[in-house]
Amino acid sequence: MRAVVCRSFDDPAATRVEDIDAPPLTDDGVRLRVHTAGVSFANLLVLTGRHQNRAEPPFTPGTEVAGVVLACGPRVTRVRPGDRVVAGVRAGGQAEEVVVPERTVYPLPDAVDFDQAVHFPTIYATAYAGLAWRARTEPGETVLVNGAAGGSGLAAIEVAKCLGARVLAVAGTDAKLDAARRHGADVLIDRRAGPVPQAVLDATGGRGADVVFDPVGGDAYRDAMRCIAPDGRLLLIGFASGEIPSVAANIALVKNVTVIGLYWGYYVGWARVPPPPGTEARVHAALATLLGWCADGRLRPETCARFPLEGFREALAMIESRAVIGRVALHPVPWAPAAAR
Ligand SMILES: NC(=O)c1ccc[n+]([C@@H]2O[C@H](COP(=O)([O-])OP(=O)(O)OC[C@H]3O[C@@H](n4cnc5c(N)ncnc54)[C@H](OP(=O)(O)O)[C@@H]3O)[C@@H](O)[C@H]2O)c1
Repeated sequence: MRAVVCRSFDDPAATRVEDIDAPPLTDDGVRLRVHTAGVSFANLLVLTGRHQNRAEPPFTPGTEVAGVVLACGPRVTRVRPGDRVVAGVRAGGQAEEVVVPERTVYPLPDAVDFDQAVHFPTIYATAYAGLAWRARTEPGETVLVNGAAGGSGLAAIEVAKCLGARVLAVAGTDAKLDAARRHGADVLIDRRAGPVPQAVLDATGGRGADVVFDPVGGDAYRDAMRCIAPDGRLLLIGFASGEIPSVAANIALVKNVTVIGLYWGYYVGWARVPPPPGTEARVHAALATLLGWCADGRLRPETCARFPLEGFREALAMIESRAVIGRVALHPVPWAPAAAR
């Protein structure tokens, strides 16, 4: 099969599309024909050895895949060949085929196509786990979303709206602010136009945001700490700015703020320590809820560009240059709209 293969963290040219053997089927594994593989900011970190989910070269990147089941191991009970599914994988997704443990495979409603589907196993799932499970966002609360037009930012806006929150979205270009508006943000904050904390305080009657969803870090984190409400919850999602901020424990103390770390991979078994019993069922219920919301039109994943497998470098360059709104998709097999549903 054709696959993107990384052979060195130091030499980007050593990552290319190669012909390699398809992975062997395991007893609890599901072999997929990959129609869409997600490309994400995290791939940039993985390909340079800077991600917590570190693989050693040679490896194939890609953690989000959607496609059709080709074969199942003998212990698989929930899906069968021909099913349309989406799956999260620790690595290996940017390839024509992948073998995924059954526990991270989720059946797709007919109304959700493959490009939409790859937004779910990581970024909508992270938004849901952060806002619903960890921050316990209540209807009527205010959620501030940093990096609001990125993949996780748009997902967070939509999930927060589904939870009944009022959403303040921070972004840095007109096109990104417009995307945040289209995806349901109630208040748009242009970070070029003036201090973000003042804009948040103005939009909340001086109280601040009850919940912050921060995939950016650096200045965006520091700004959020200045305008989070008393009893607020700040979700640490990622550091797209490249700067891991310090916690500002003094502000956390005086404002009764809870700073919450969140790694979605822990819930799907990618961390060193496994999650507690019952987590698999909880994850499946969350994915079913999210895919149901998508089938109902309440979630509208946005794919801003599509490339064949050989276009993975251009896809990564788009992410690196901050040109992406929502997600970029790779199509390992030629895209056929009829087959995508
Ligand atoms: N914790 C988890 O389980 C989890 C799950 C998913 C993603 N993540 C992490 O979350 C982070 C964001 O992921 P994403 O998929 O949302 O990324 P993305 O689509 O590339 O969006 C990141 C946003 O951050 C803003 N940004 C500010 N400074 C930036 C910089 N120097 N370079 C790039 N973007 C910058 C940009 O918005 P403006 O241009 O408007 O400022 C951009 O839209 C990554 O670190 C990723 O690894 C973590």
